[in-house]
Amino acid sequence: MVIQWFPGHMAKAKRQAIENRNMVDIVLELVDARIPISSRNPLMDEIVGGKPRLIILNKADLADSNMTNDWLEYFNHPEHNQKAIAVNAFNQSDIKRTKNIIKEMMIEKMAAREARGIKPRAIRLMVLGIPNVGKSTFINQIIKRNRAKTANKPGVTQHQQWLKIENDFELLDTPGILWHKFEDQAIGMKLALTGAIKDTLFHKDDIALYALELWTNRYPGRLKQVYRLDESLGKESYPDMLMALTEQLNFGDEYDRASEKLIFDIRDGKLGTFTLDEVPENTNSQ
Ligand code: G4P
Repeated sequence: MVIQWFPGHMAKAKRQAIENRNMVDIVLELVDARIPISSRNPLMDEIVGGKPRLIILNKADLADSNMTNDWLEYFNHPEHNQKAIAVNAFNQSDIKRTKNIIKEMMIEKMAAREARGIKPRAIRLMVLGIPNVGKSTFINQIIKRNRAKTANKPGVTQHQQWLKIENDFELLDTPGILWHKFEDQAIGMKLALTGAIKDTLFHKDDIALYALELWTNRYPGRLKQVYRLDESLGKESYPDMLMALTEQLNFGDEYDRASEKLIFDIRDGKLGTFTLDEVPENTNSQ
């Protein structure tokens, strides 16, 4: 197991994120639409403080659209001082929509500044999120340029610059990289399945068993369609189902190989769109 975050790194990343937050008008918090809660940093509320924030459920093209709508309703609940949208960072109309929402969020503040005779200025933004939620991709798309990938390490943000986006926005060039909630086994499994944890913390077959159970129950028919797998096997035993999958793939007794194929197929969307986090029942609050 590769430990990715140490307490010192976390403290530094948090401190930098808070320093940067103080320089911007709006925080853009990127999460993975397939795991909108599991891909949030545990201290996000504290880090963002009272600053207006736009939660961007990125990779919406890979997520279950019905569940994305439920998540948007949840995050956009009027009680919260925040807004949420779902986007595919590669889709320019989603990027345009994001810019319009940011402008709407700033209308009152800008009008108040104008009323006090303060010269209009660009809206200042920063991007925050855990590794792999699409921060670099989103920044490249919003500035319409290709910038080098940022190292996924906390505390690498040294000499920050403002990137101009038309005349309307200024964006801090390096995103705030926060750590995942890898301490929790169930969350770790979801991060692993979506590819957020590259140096996997789990055995491949454990992730595969988790996936087989989830797909059998939540997305019935897909395992049968893609692998001609008998889904009723899952009702008896998921390890038996993994053995059947290995056989179906002609991988002999290489269960790890079959597990890896299943995991990659899921990440590539071959088993359809999916969302692993469920909106909590009977609550509209975070
Ligand atoms: P990060 O800075 O937050 O660490 O994330 P990054 O932009 O590197 O994106 C992580 C992976 O997610 C990349 O894929 C990227 O292409 C993909 N991605 C980002 N946004 C979206 C989106 O809205 N939809 C989809 N489908 N994918 C998205 P990769 O395979 O790791 O790299 P690459 O092969 O694309 O270079």
